[in-house]
Amino acid sequence: MPAQDAFASLIHSRRSVRKYCPETPFDHDAVKRALELAVLSPNSSNMQLWGFHRVISDEKRHALADICMGQNAAKTANELVVITITPQYWRERAQTNAKTVRDAFNGRDDNTAKGALKYYEKLIPFVYRHDRFGLFGAAKKLLSFCLGLKRPMVREVSKSDLRVCLHKSAALAAMTFMSAMRSEGYDTCPMEGFDSVRAKKLLGLSSTEEICMIISCGTRTEAGIYGDRHRVAYQDVVHQH
Ligand SMILES: Cc1cc2nc3c(=O)[nH]c(=O)nc-3n(C[C@H](O)[C@H](O)[C@H](O)COP(=O)(O)O)c2cc1C
Repeated sequence: MPAQDAFASLIHSRRSVRKYCPETPFDHDAVKRALELAVLSPNSSNMQLWGFHRVISDEKRHALADICMGQNAAKTANELVVITITPQYWRERAQTNAKTVRDAFNGRDDNTAKGALKYYEKLIPFVYRHDRFGLFGAAKKLLSFCLGLKRPMVREVSKSDLRVCLHKSAALAAMTFMSAMRSEGYDTCPMEGFDSVRAKKLLGLSSTEEICMIISCGTRTEAGIYGDRHRVAYQDVVHQH
């Protein structure tokens, strides 16, 4: 099958499944392989400020299913994968990326090499550093507005903008993960219907970490697919300029 047909078929066959088959054996290694692909997803500045918590044990899985408001998609799953954003690691990641850049340019001193290094050593700390009260973010917002009067300027520089930025990258990893699970013959359901306070407590997450999505995994039952797929018309959402 040509690659584009195989890809289209995978996208068509992925559905959000709300009831999994408890009798079908589940290979937890498939989740590992899917996560190995998920971390290859594009992500903002390659900062990789995401985390993947695999909830496998009966005890924690049942507790988390309750926290997911008792949804069938969670209750009948073989494994739950919690995708988080981890802004607290920005300094380490910036340093790792700066080192990768330094190694890649191997002592080069031209403008491209200097620019790449400056990106992780100066710009990233400028964007990621925030104080508790949002004052730094407000100052950055004002600066971006003033500079933006004369030339194109990134406007999303506040602390809440940064959260959006990290959730975008985590959501892309979620999509790669769900596609990879489908390619393994398994099904998934992304969920945002959960009590984030209780879920964070159950997993022992830090206060700065946030849950992007909880993805249940298993093998579909017919009853687990709630009807045909419905999407609004292509021309209502795709705009040509
Ligand atoms: C961010 C996000 C959160 C979602 N949360 C839930 C949820 O809590 N419970 C649920 O049953 N489905 C949830 N879904 C699944 C959507 O309802 C589903 O993707 C949509 O109805 C389209 O169906 P399809 O995935 O089968 O194409 C969520 C999907 C996304 C992307």
